[in-house]
Amino acid sequence: MKTLLTADDLREGVIRMSLEIVDAYGDCPLTILGVLTGSIVLMADLIRHIDIPLRVGVVQARSYRGAATRRGPLVINSDLMPDIRDRDVLVVDDIFDTGHTLVELTRLLDDFMPRTVRTAVLLRKQGRQEVALQPDFIGFEIPNEFVVGYGLDYQDEYRDLPYVAVLEEDDLR
Ligand code: IMP
Ligand code: MG
Repeated sequence: MKTLLTADDLREGVIRMSLEIVDAYGDCPLTILGVLTGSIVLMADLIRHIDIPLRVGVVQARSYRGAATRRGPLVINSDLMPDIRDRDVLVVDDIFDTGHTLVELTRLLDDFMPRTVRTAVLLRKQGRQEVALQPDFIGFEIPNEFVVGYGLDYQDEYRDLPYVAVLEEDDLR
């Protein structure tokens, strides 16, 4: 595996994002909604740098995929989600690839009558977007490669790596 972002890079990127988020929201109370499972590591680091009164919740989005990069239909489960009515909501996900996950998710959240919905992602993959939505906060732009670590998985593995690495052909198992 080839390291793309070291733990130090990630720490700097998360601090940069958190400053932008604090700038954008001022002192407005916020609900940070992490997209399971890929966002858990970013969430844990991000919320400790955002010095605003906040609530934390999760929502699950899963796309069934056969091979590493082929995605199936998206399934969103909001059972674990806290009440977001009249709240400023920041949806946090690991990576913005085609963008369909965040588009479908933000559309679904509207039914719960939040005050505002914005989005933050650790990574945006270059040249992959198929939607008009742009994330409001982006940690890093990365090349079009399949990456793992810092929450991102390949078949539910590698989420625990403290860095982000490119998964190469030899790593597939
Ligand atoms: P999108 O709907 O195409 O934007 O895909 C977003 C989801 O696909 C992410 O939340 C990830 O779970 C998954 N994904 C996309 N690219 C990668 C990758 O390079 N590594 C790991 N997961 C990825
Ligand atoms: Mg994911």
